Amino acid sequence: MNKININVIGLGYIGLPTALTMANAGYNVIGTDYNSELVKTLNAGKVTFEEKGLKELFDSANATGNIKYTTEYSNVKYYIVSVPTPYDKFSKKLDPGYVMNAVKEVLKVCPEDAVIIIESTISPGTIDKLIKPIINKKVHLVHAPERIIPGNMMYELKHNSRTIGADDLEIGKKVAEIYGKTTDGEVVVTDIKSAEMTKVVENTFRAVNIAFANELAKICRHDNIDVYEIIRICNMHPRVNILQPGPGVGGHCISVDPWFLVGDYPSLAKVIDESMKTNDSMPDFVLNRIYEIMKEKNMTDITKVGLYGLSYKENVDDCRESPTLQLLESQERHLATGLKVYDPFIKKDIVKNQYHNLDDFLKAIDLVVIMVKHNEIKENLAKLQNKIVLDCHNICHSNNVYHL
Ligand SMILES: NC(=O)c1ccc[n+]([C@@H]2O[C@H](COP(=O)([O-])OP(=O)(O)OC[C@H]3O[C@@H](n4cnc5c(N)ncnc54)[C@H](O)[C@@H]3O)[C@@H](O)[C@H]2O)c1
Repeated sequence: MNKININVIGLGYIGLPTALTMANAGYNVIGTDYNSELVKTLNAGKVTFEEKGLKELFDSANATGNIKYTTEYSNVKYYIVSVPTPYDKFSKKLDPGYVMNAVKEVLKVCPEDAVIIIESTISPGTIDKLIKPIINKKVHLVHAPERIIPGNMMYELKHNSRTIGADDLEIGKKVAEIYGKTTDGEVVVTDIKSAEMTKVVENTFRAVNIAFANELAKICRHDNIDVYEIIRICNMHPRVNILQPGPGVGGHCISVDPWFLVGDYPSLAKVIDESMKTNDSMPDFVLNRIYEIMKEKNMTDITKVGLYGLSYKENVDDCRESPTLQLLESQERHLATGLKVYDPFIKKDIVKNQYHNLDDFLKAIDLVVIMVKHNEIKENLAKLQNKIVLDCHNICHSNNVYHL
């Protein structure tokens, strides 16, 4: 039987693991990215970001001989489009530019009857309203949103259930069969618009629940109540499951996708709008906590304060929309610059006053703010003994530790 040929477009955080998984499942994969440096790195046998198990997946996919990396698009039956989908900060709507450009490039080379699977997260109705109008030959459109979480991608790729949105049921079933070989999870087939909606709703559910925890943190702080104790006790109720508050929400999903609903349904998405604003207000809330603690401790020099963690979550190197970057922006607005920053996962200098060694960072500051709960800091809490600590994740409980 002829092997199925798949061209994966966009080899970033989602596209690369997807392409590798498909190759390992026995498909012929052409991985395409227009970033020639990235393609060069992959062809030199190196992965392009840090993720537990990624290098092993990369090596085993390469060993199958089923995958190649290129800047060119190919003439194949199946395409998986995995390019960025940011939102327009002003209108809050999805910015479909990358997806539309990728589809236009695919249309230049694809055969009739090709199947174009959009994995990128898109707002409900995007395929109908924006993609279908640019289709100039007979192809089938499918939406297969990705749910994997950075930090646990390898496990989730193999075990998560998947949603396949296709308006032609037969095509939906064929695509479900392809994905079914890559995951033990259930593969559900639905229509395109429902698939688009499910992905955005999943991330919105998370954003709203995180916002609730963040709002509780603010209310409890106002009356000097321990929010963690409240959540711990409330969660003993059989039908209550409150998440943990934090210094804000970042990344490419939870801090972005819910805005699509606010942008598209502004008079309806009220809870979502307020939730997103609450999450976005957290870095400022942390900055105010820093000022409060400095005042209490008679500290006047902001350069003696350091932010631990730059990525948007623990144990990953992805800084997109991260709370620390948001806090630094807020600091610029307050004209009180000088905060020091350190993250073990960020090897390049991307912000001012950035350190690359934990001990040097701690030596330079009196107050450390735990913005990200990387394993490194959890394993080195003893080093914080003589510091004032603002712990935004409730991982540190010795003297001189403040919480949100
Ligand atoms: N990162 C996550 O955790 C995550 C999780 C689930 C879903 N998603 C969704 O997956 C999609 C991709 O996100 P990502 O994090 O992988 O983005 P990314 O920025 O890491 O990767 C996108 C890649 O696409 C390439 N690219 C862009 N346009 C191209 C084109 N026309 N042709 C060829 N290559 C092109 C870029 O060079 C880049 O390497 C987004 O819609 C995102 O919302 C992301």
